[in-house]
Amino acid sequence: MTATTRDHTLLELIGMLVDPAARPDPYPVYARIRELGPSVLDLPLWQTPGAVISSYQGCEAVLRDPRMSSQRGRDRNLADLMPPGAPSSVRQRWFLSLDAPDHTRLRRLVSAAFTARRIGRLSERIAGLVDELLDRAAERDGPFDIVEDLAYPLPMTVICEMLGVPAADQEQVREWSSRLTRLIDGFGAPPTEESISGLLALNVYLNELIASRQARPGDDLISALTAVREGGDSLSHDELVSIVALLLVAGHETTVNLIANGALALLRHPEHLAALRESPRAPELAEAVVEETLRYDPPVHITARVATEDMELSGVRLRRGAMVVLLLAAAHRDPRETEKPDVFDPYRPEIKHLAFGLGPHFCLGAPLARLEARLALTRLAQRLPEPVLLQDPPPYRDHVNLRGPLSITVPRPSLLT
Ligand code: HEM
Repeated sequence: MTATTRDHTLLELIGMLVDPAARPDPYPVYARIRELGPSVLDLPLWQTPGAVISSYQGCEAVLRDPRMSSQRGRDRNLADLMPPGAPSSVRQRWFLSLDAPDHTRLRRLVSAAFTARRIGRLSERIAGLVDELLDRAAERDGPFDIVEDLAYPLPMTVICEMLGVPAADQEQVREWSSRLTRLIDGFGAPPTEESISGLLALNVYLNELIASRQARPGDDLISALTAVREGGDSLSHDELVSIVALLLVAGHETTVNLIANGALALLRHPEHLAALRESPRAPELAEAVVEETLRYDPPVHITARVATEDMELSGVRLRRGAMVVLLLAAAHRDPRETEKPDVFDPYRPEIKHLAFGLGPHFCLGAPLARLEARLALTRLAQRLPEPVLLQDPPPYRDHVNLRGPLSITVPRPSLLT
């Protein structure tokens, strides 16, 4: 295939990928993109042609490459689109999209408050919350929706309680967050009015919440972040707002898919579900089920970097400023890295994935997401007397990147005895 035919085919395949018809099973499209090898993508909205990387080794190399920047241009454009009265915090980039030294500094300050100890302390509360949510579903008539009744409210409640966001505000935060996640869906598409308004509203809300916590600190993570002092350095008000917004959004929009995708894989593989319910080695199996879900059907499909200099990347010539799109979900099914990659098998000797990224931006919330998913899937296995999917495939959210089921209906769970 000539380079031109290949680029044309890639464009067609990307078209198939973003089509909602591919949402229940995008993996055959990913396989075809992977077979093309590293390819040039020339989208009209990009200043210069970019690259699409879909092999495991290719994605790994880009995530480790110091010539690659996380400062994706759309954030800059976004600040310019905000109305004049918008709080100045909307101009503060999320540290997910910053490079060293700014990224290093903010990540260090956040890590001083968002610690493994703080997360470990939550274990009992998360287990209790899972049972509360399952009890609520057991007491109600009609089928149980694993997404709406468990996979969504669990991480949302956990991150809100952790940060100290009042329970009464959760519905509103959910709505803003769902609007603004459109910003990271796809291939650098321009922000919509809806996504801008979501980001703005969340910023206005968090400005007030953080100011009140600064005046009257509590036992929550916002108060802890406010108090962080590291070698004479601390977080400014706008930095705090942007960090809390990032933790709030990243803390639930992704974990919902991990729990839902894991539940779906288990319901489609009743032998693993039964083992999780009955085996004396259930805790180890729960860990493996979560890791295999992260590989097989990851909650985040795409991330991107920007080339900071003219370069050649896996045979593709790139100009400075070119976008490099990493198809993580395609990389996870790379047969050169994983044997029989299209099989869901938690007993693999080694489960390799890039679901939480790699390198300096490795997901800060990975231990929390793993803990929530382990506890949710284990209790689900124990408390579903009739573990059958009432609709397969289930309907999907319209997201290409944060892809996950919209609902998964099964017969009601049993009451806790
Ligand atoms: C299954 C759930 C999750 C998945 C799949 C996930 C995935 C990711 C990925 C892929 C990145 C790196 C992006 C890149 O390098 O371009 C990332 C970064 C990040 N995630 Fe997560 N995440 C999850 C849960 C969470 C949770 C629960 C939190 C917080 C409560 C969180 C907070 C963050 C933060 C703060 C970063 C930025 C780190 C940095 O730039 O240094 N994530 N996540």
